[in-house]
Amino acid sequence: MKPEIIEPGGCLVGQINAPGDKSISHRVLMLASLADGESTIHGLSRGQDVKHTMEILTSLGVQLEEKDSDVLRIQGGELKEPSEKLFVGNSGTSIRLMSGMLAGLPFSVTLDGDESIRKRPMERIIEPLERMGATISCLETAGRAPFRIDAGGLKGIEYQMEVPSAQVKGCLMFAGLFATGDTTVIETTPTRTHTEELFQEVGLDVFITAPTADGFSESVTVKPGQPKPFIHKVKGDPSQAAFWAVGATILKGSEVAIKNVYTGHARDGFIGVLSRMGADITQDPVTNDLNVASSELVGTVVEETEIPGLIDEVPILAVAAACADGETHFKGLGELRVKESNRLETIVSEIGSMGMKAEISGDDLVIQGGGLTGGKVDSHGDHRIAMSCAIAGLVSSNATEISGWEAVATSYPGFIDDLNALRK
Ligand code: S3P
Repeated sequence: MKPEIIEPGGCLVGQINAPGDKSISHRVLMLASLADGESTIHGLSRGQDVKHTMEILTSLGVQLEEKDSDVLRIQGGELKEPSEKLFVGNSGTSIRLMSGMLAGLPFSVTLDGDESIRKRPMERIIEPLERMGATISCLETAGRAPFRIDAGGLKGIEYQMEVPSAQVKGCLMFAGLFATGDTTVIETTPTRTHTEELFQEVGLDVFITAPTADGFSESVTVKPGQPKPFIHKVKGDPSQAAFWAVGATILKGSEVAIKNVYTGHARDGFIGVLSRMGADITQDPVTNDLNVASSELVGTVVEETEIPGLIDEVPILAVAAACADGETHFKGLGELRVKESNRLETIVSEIGSMGMKAEISGDDLVIQGGGLTGGKVDSHGDHRIAMSCAIAGLVSSNATEISGWEAVATSYPGFIDDLNALRK
């Protein structure tokens, strides 16, 4: 594929529908597959990651019928043994959530993914699933995909998560649906709560304890059960809305409304950080639209406890920091090293080659504001790096050439169309 060229200038004006939330899309597809009967989903994410989840469910015998570009009908119920290994492509959410569900089913499966997935840590789900009684064999490298999950019974456990990860929590909650007894996951830093919210919506037994007095620890307990068929309208993805929010903030003369964005627990951290930096960003409490107008930014400190609530937005917040006055300090970004790329490194190398002044210190990232120049960058196969560089290119002094642009299809195939629609 040809590199994408972004010429600087202009502003962003108008309304946009953010694509359906990716995290919710994976989860509603899996729940509909387990429900006994027909479910209907509106507004799914159209990215490759969610397509991989749909393909895997089809291999497991689930019938998915697209009524039109917005509506999908799913006939769930009994899942069958697939004839081939299941391939998740680049999708960490697919492999981790799906492993929990598959560990509970009465047949064996092999899961694999692309080169990037094969490098990402899977011991964080393998270890607790084995404690629940699953038999998992890594076929090439310990703690990495590809791995086989063999059939066997699961028992509920109480598990304190070692890293704050909604994928690990979600994996164990899906496994808990097939276990004997209760499964409890304890978090020290709260992560996104889509699995809890959706389990409750489809009639599953979920108990959530409020944070303890220290304000840090909360737990979720799942009982075994089967979802009821449901109808769900997927809200707009805040992680994609963040690109337009930062773009409209840093491009003078911009005014953008991003329609119906999900900003539930641990997904709205970027709004708080941008507000602290001086952005003109508000959310309509009735429509959930995010309204953003351009403004001057100043640097801020982003604490480690805030990171799970904005984990996917760090690359685009780095662009905001590069355009701010003064220093922005992100603390505790170790988890970024094991995303689609080593994002701590690729933020610094790619946005850095567009003129951002940044330094990594341990797991912290310190950015000095001062503007961007544009240049030649590479996505490293990472959709969020590619889209962050595109937004950075709009405010740069020269053009930006982005290779590896195809990575954007992972989550936002319509990104350039939306950019062209907003650009004035
Ligand atoms: C996700 C959780 C986060 C996030 C990912 C989606 C989810 O990953 O980065 O894009 O849907 O649960 P971690 O759980 O690894 O933090």
